[in-house]
Amino acid sequence: MAKYKIAWLPGDGVGIEVLEATKIILEKLNFDAEYIHGDIGWDFWCREGDALPARTIELLKNVDAAMFGAITSKPVRQAEEELIPELKGKGLVYRSPIVRMRQLFDLYICLRPCKAYPGNLLNYKENINLVVFRENTEDLYSGVEFNTVPKELSDILAKLSPPFSVFKNLPSDEYAISCKINTRRGSERIIRAAFEYARENGRKRLTVVHKANVVRATDGLFLEIAKEVAKDYPSVSMDDANIDAMTMWLIKNPFNYEVLVAPNLYGDVISDLCAQMVGGLGFGCSGNIGTKLGVFEPTHGSAPKYAGQYKVNPIATILAAKMMLEWLGESEKAASIENAVAEVIKEGKVRTYDMGGSNTTLHIGEAVAEKL
Ligand code: IPM
Ligand code: MG
Repeated sequence: MAKYKIAWLPGDGVGIEVLEATKIILEKLNFDAEYIHGDIGWDFWCREGDALPARTIELLKNVDAAMFGAITSKPVRQAEEELIPELKGKGLVYRSPIVRMRQLFDLYICLRPCKAYPGNLLNYKENINLVVFRENTEDLYSGVEFNTVPKELSDILAKLSPPFSVFKNLPSDEYAISCKINTRRGSERIIRAAFEYARENGRKRLTVVHKANVVRATDGLFLEIAKEVAKDYPSVSMDDANIDAMTMWLIKNPFNYEVLVAPNLYGDVISDLCAQMVGGLGFGCSGNIGTKLGVFEPTHGSAPKYAGQYKVNPIATILAAKMMLEWLGESEKAASIENAVAEVIKEGKVRTYDMGGSNTTLHIGEAVAEKL
């Protein structure tokens, strides 16, 4: 029996291709795993009304880790239109399967390392080496939203003047509400995970990203907890910045930052910004990590316009596999993947279109495998 069971979730679009390239490397490494395919993605929504079918949830309960490619997400109304006729009008609600997976399995850490590998012509600046810790289960992703506001709620809001007085005479279908919900527990565990990481990896600086000057209750709580937790980690110096200023500082002095920790939505935003600084989404890898399960993925989406062309850069996914190995405790194998990727980038001989080359997704997989 293989040492590890890995759920293999290609999803759709280019997700399928980038996972294929990654498999070449894991196989060459003799990673002792059984890969079990799981259905996820747009096709399953259209045919079954569920982009994350129950059988895939069962599978995820019984594996050590998962590799996930990408899925197509569409706005709610369009999603409803694409259901097969038998499923239309049944009140099925499309929700992103990756967000559901994060919440169902309590994958509360979204870990996104952003490192400028030397020789990558797409690097914004050299020496960028920072890690984003994004809270992954709550905040504006809580899923508590109202397209039509229930009367009980609109009555309460109408009483809360002056800030809500603009809603006073509005019919309840004239506004929508998305709730930002942040718990003490959810905030504390991501902040603690970031501090632990900083301490273990000799990182000296940790920056808390928020907007506590305006979003006082939720972000205020996040910042307050960060200040409490910081006391347990005297070797790490904590500072904080508003999300808007943070985007500016990151562009100005990215190499000054080491570890960033943020509530879910701000973490989503800054992780794309950071990925772009180290070469774009072709280089942004991500780990969704809980206490029992880790799901590893590229940060990019399914890029439907490139689907089937084997054109996109699989390095983000290959680096996600490296994160998976690290998380499983296979640090030597993880390090050899990273070194091989770094060499391929530095040599610059095999490059996909984003890097100015004309090699395919699988060429990169093969080139990395050759360096192992
Ligand atoms: C990400 C993506 C997802 C998110 C989307 C696809 C739901 O942008 O992983 O960063 O918003 O979390
Ligand atoms: Mg994102």
